[in-house]
Amino acid sequence: MIQSTLSLPRVAVDFMNRDHDEFANLRAALLDHIAGGTADAIDSLLDQLHQHTIRHFADEEKLMQETNFPVYTVHKEEHDSVLADMVARIAHWRRDGDLAALQKWLDMAVGEWLVAHIASMDTVTARFAAARQPP
Ligand SMILES: [Fe+2]
Repeated sequence: MIQSTLSLPRVAVDFMNRDHDEFANLRAALLDHIAGGTADAIDSLLDQLHQHTIRHFADEEKLMQETNFPVYTVHKEEHDSVLADMVARIAHWRRDGDLAALQKWLDMAVGEWLVAHIASMDTVTARFAAARQPP
């Protein structure tokens, strides 16, 4: 059973919550298109997901640097590895057109990663930043 809607933990910084919702919406749209068997919109949605993720990670990293977040490197390394995996998965899709592999990645890897990442690193980062940087 594919889980296209996620219930995401809320963090203490608004832009992060907005971005996380946007990411979850793009993921859900991709899963819906895959389930509907319409491959045409998938490339552009994957581009949007990739661009969104680059921009969102950069914004979180800027926030961590501005607030001297002590474990910046750990959080940044996870971002880097997630982005590298995303690039590889998209390349794999473009090369093989394997809809089932794409669906599995979005469903399991992306869904579980997103919720776990928000509940751990993003929660700690946002709490730290919100305490240092009143809105
Ligand atoms: Fe993050």
